[in-house]
Amino acid sequence: MARRFTEPKLVLATHNPGKVGELEELLAPWKVEVVSAGTLGLPEPEETGETFVDNALLKARVAMEATGLPALADDSGLSVVGLGGRPGVHTADWAGSPRDFTRAMRRVQDELGSNPDRRAAFMSTLALVWPDGHEEVFEGKVEGELVWPPRGTIGWGYDPMFAPEGSPRTYGEMSAEEKHSTSHRARALGKLVKACFDGR
Ligand code: IMP
Repeated sequence: MARRFTEPKLVLATHNPGKVGELEELLAPWKVEVVSAGTLGLPEPEETGETFVDNALLKARVAMEATGLPALADDSGLSVVGLGGRPGVHTADWAGSPRDFTRAMRRVQDELGSNPDRRAAFMSTLALVWPDGHEEVFEGKVEGELVWPPRGTIGWGYDPMFAPEGSPRTYGEMSAEEKHSTSHRARALGKLVKACFDGR
């Protein structure tokens, strides 16, 4: 059975404003004070893991060790069926440095070429790490289709290129609440909340 989270505060182990915003919104009902690694000026660890789980744990452990607070990290990415699951754990890297998601989305489109198989999934792994070293991991996934050209200006990252299953609109064309009703991150967080936060 998962450990209950009873602490008043946690650190979000991310410097990505898109993730911070979504995780803050999703955690809002659970009466836990959140502060992000970016706001605290913590260094951004290199993501050397080979899986989403490795990288989520790595990021959460670094933030927990730097602050002494429980830490929640998200490692996520886009898995494209016609590209054998790429970019996967390298999804952020496809945007280069500094990050340019117009370029990243174009690379996905270019590599797919004329492949009619447009199926893809967003994956999210959440790692929650306590100061005594206890760790819990939860995963969420949303399947959908890639559209071209990208549509919408609301979201971040690859949102304008991804329409979740059953939707004619991309995440770039949806409000945050609409995105949360299907997203990989909301699904992973839903599992975390059920296991660790429910009844708080
Ligand atoms: P990482 O978890 O720091 O390795 O970065 C994951 C990358 O996947 C992000 O920088 C985005 O490019 C992409 N990504 C993950 N989740 C989403 C999402 O909900 N919308 C758009 N892009 C996402």
